[in-house]
Amino acid sequence: MSAPAHQPFLDRRRALAGAATVGIGVPLLAACSGGGSTATDTGGGGGSSSGPLTATSDIEVGGGTIFRDQQVVVTQPAKGQFKCFTAVCTHQGCIVSSVSGGDIRCGCHGSAFSIDDGSVVNGPATQPLAEQQITVQGGEITLA
Ligand code: FES
Repeated sequence: MSAPAHQPFLDRRRALAGAATVGIGVPLLAACSGGGSTATDTGGGGGSSSGPLTATSDIEVGGGTIFRDQQVVVTQPAKGQFKCFTAVCTHQGCIVSSVSGGDIRCGCHGSAFSIDDGSVVNGPATQPLAEQQITVQGGEITLA
């Protein structure tokens, strides 16, 4: 009579163990699929030191594009004038998050930098973004 009382208990433990295994497996799968897109990006720029970073036509006039893998931001303050700055915020080292309204913006604490010369437009950052050397040739922009 006491044996049937134990069996449901064991079944419940097995069920819990199975749930725990599934619980661990799902986040791992999610992490793998998230990394897949990053790997694709990196694969495309595999020869980033020798290949072009982007096309000039991909950089908006009066705006810019952030390249997270290379940690740079390329801007076009005026038509045909291209600039490149580090994308690492001088405040606490976040990668800047957007380019809008003529500013390179950091989402961590709200600092903003000029797309023209990287100077601080809005704190708390106090130091400008350092300019990076680029080569613009044949409609392509390459990190120097
Ligand atoms: S790290 Fe960019 S504003 Fe703080």
